[in-house]
Amino acid sequence: MDSETPVIRTYDLTKRFKKLTAVNEVNFAVKRGEVFGFLGPNGAGKTTTIAMLLGLVRPTAGSAEVLGHDIRHNLSTALRRVGAIVETPAFYPYMSGIDNLRVFARIDGGDTEEHIPAILEQVGLTGRGKDKVGTYSQGMRQRLGLGAALLGDPELLILDEPTNGLDPAGMQEMRVLIRYLADEQSKTVFLSSHLLHEIEQVCDRVLILNKGQVIAQGKVKELLSQAHAIELRIEGAERAAEVLSRLDWVQGTSREGGWLHVQAPPERTPELLAALAAHSLFPFEVRPVVSTLESVFLDLTHESTDGTDV
Ligand SMILES: Nc1ncnc2c1ncn2[C@@H]1O[C@H](COP(=O)(O)OP(=O)(O)OP(=O)(O)O)[C@@H](O)[C@H]1O
Ligand SMILES: [Mg+2]
Repeated sequence: MDSETPVIRTYDLTKRFKKLTAVNEVNFAVKRGEVFGFLGPNGAGKTTTIAMLLGLVRPTAGSAEVLGHDIRHNLSTALRRVGAIVETPAFYPYMSGIDNLRVFARIDGGDTEEHIPAILEQVGLTGRGKDKVGTYSQGMRQRLGLGAALLGDPELLILDEPTNGLDPAGMQEMRVLIRYLADEQSKTVFLSSHLLHEIEQVCDRVLILNKGQVIAQGKVKELLSQAHAIELRIEGAERAAEVLSRLDWVQGTSREGGWLHVQAPPERTPELLAALAAHSLFPFEVRPVVSTLESVFLDLTHESTDGTDV
């Protein structure tokens, strides 16, 4: 497998539970070294997809490759190079963090046990490794979960909602840790979340899943820039729309209430005003529309709910 081969690739991956299609012909590719966000509301099919990638659930149709191996056959070889957290990781509460990791390391096989101190340091639990997991906070347990996923120094981490149950500070720490693993340890990270804010801050690319269907995917920045706009109140809005639609950086115009909505990056506002002034068009109000991934997501999930809900 060369460095260009996607670390994960799916081909119309589908899972049906009786009449419910939980994952519907999903296609995506995760590149080596990136943090890939798998975003969707509750019930979108995130965990089901991840369970298929880890060989825990059989696809009904379609297929996928993890580290070049077909998930329907001989996945165990590939899984040795994958670390995963699926839903909330379970530990023995009466044992220390270190001893829990030792148990996992033994299940993993190999000489992973000697790496435990380094792993504890990476996940920020060095001082607490000898304490019983039962005394850990939720955030510490999540970090220990990531520690368990790091045993065996995997090249791919598959993390299903790793910040579930964390407070804002804990989430921030987890994001920093994930970025560090990708940037400094060259790991590829596949991360699911229902929190846009989180994906927006940590991921290079994102896929948005709703009701088992892919509704958008791309670079976070590009998805956001599609939603950026400039809005104007102007006398002669029709003429203004005509002038502006001739500019190659304007993707479209529409009338919304009393506003002329111009699909263009807000940082081009001065050029937009100059173009209008050249035609003696002077807006009396101008405002930028800077979308968050959240508004893009809500728009998209709203559209797909309207359209495909049969
Ligand atoms: N074993 C199962 N049997 C029947 N239906 C299932 C099973 N597992 C999942 N589902 C259904 O498949 C759909 C997708 O569930 P899934 O757990 O993959 O969603 P999710 O995106 O992980 O949601 P959440 O954010 O709540 O974790 C849901 O409607 C769920 O009820
Ligand atoms: Mg889930």
